[in-house]
Amino acid sequence: MKTSCSLLVVNLIVWFLLLGSGVFSSDYKTFNKLVLPPTATNPRSAAFDRAGEGPYVTVADGRILKWKGPATGFVDFAYTSPNRTKKFCDGTDDLDLGPICGRPVALSFNYKTSDIYITDAFFGLLVVGFNGGLATQLSGGYKYLSGIDVESFTGNVYMTDASLTYDIRNLAQSGFKPDSTGRLLKYDPRTQRVTILLSGLAGVGGPTVSSDRKYVLVPEYVTKKIQRYWLQGPTKDTNDIFMTVFGSPNNVKRAVNDGEFWVAVENQGQGLRVNGSAMILQTVPLTEFFDASVDVVQETNDALYVGSSHTDFVGVYTN
Ligand SMILES: *[C@@H]1O[C@H](CO)[C@@H](O)[C@H](O)[C@H]1NC(C)=O
Ligand SMILES: *[C@@H]1O[C@H](CO)[C@@H](O)[C@H](O)[C@H]1NC(C)=O
Repeated sequence: MKTSCSLLVVNLIVWFLLLGSGVFSSDYKTFNKLVLPPTATNPRSAAFDRAGEGPYVTVADGRILKWKGPATGFVDFAYTSPNRTKKFCDGTDDLDLGPICGRPVALSFNYKTSDIYITDAFFGLLVVGFNGGLATQLSGGYKYLSGIDVESFTGNVYMTDASLTYDIRNLAQSGFKPDSTGRLLKYDPRTQRVTILLSGLAGVGGPTVSSDRKYVLVPEYVTKKIQRYWLQGPTKDTNDIFMTVFGSPNNVKRAVNDGEFWVAVENQGQGLRVNGSAMILQTVPLTEFFDASVDVVQETNDALYVGSSHTDFVGVYTN
């Protein structure tokens, strides 16, 4: 008995020494796929609800799917177009059917209300309750609403509008060049009003609010910069450049550690963990995405979930 006790103590000491030496620090070397239902493609986002369930993903045929574990896989959760039918739309990736089937791009939870806010390339900003089903449009008339982040304390919704001139169908055309008419917008659920916070953005991706709610980070994949728009403090309502990235940042998400972020670098197949001083703390090569674009890197429970507009799976990197 005594021996096993002291063995345990020795084990614990060794374990703490290893922890300190960084042997257990996350290197995300193990890769798994969460495979979409047959013919569903291009999961551009991967969000988790406040119970930690998910990921919830937006796919090309207009559905929002929810992962229910390996035994069940993904199931239908919500959709954005009132005219969508499963028979007509399931499995399509034809963007010309977007006005009928919908194309949800990104989603974000209000963790207080459990409502899910969705940007759709054809239907603008929508919301759906935690039971899913047909989402309700809150604001429309955009060319290509794309990124979104809900700040759950105030309920404010930050979203990006990729362009005033092109929509998602133009992106697939040869010779397409993104312009510099992207915007950062805010939807206030109390007044139901949308205000423009930033304009003139070039290839704007998915924004995120810092965990202290002081600013929003807004990636631009053309200029390879991440803008910072101040929500509080002496520089409130102004913006500056948070960082320049070696590669094209597509989405920024809050990391599990307060004050840190994960930047999805689209064309390099990388996830970057950065802190509030724009210091890169970790670079994770997302090897399985080297020939597919990395749209989003979402951290949860010691795992990185990777969404892409060129795959039929969500990638999961663990240790
Ligand atoms: C849905 O279909 C009806 C009837 O065809 C049409 O009038 C309506 O405009 C469609 N709605 C949308 C959002 O496309
Ligand atoms: C970011 O990390 C650097 C290097 O570890 C550190 O000096 C800096 O204080 C950190 N910034 C914040 C806001 O935590």
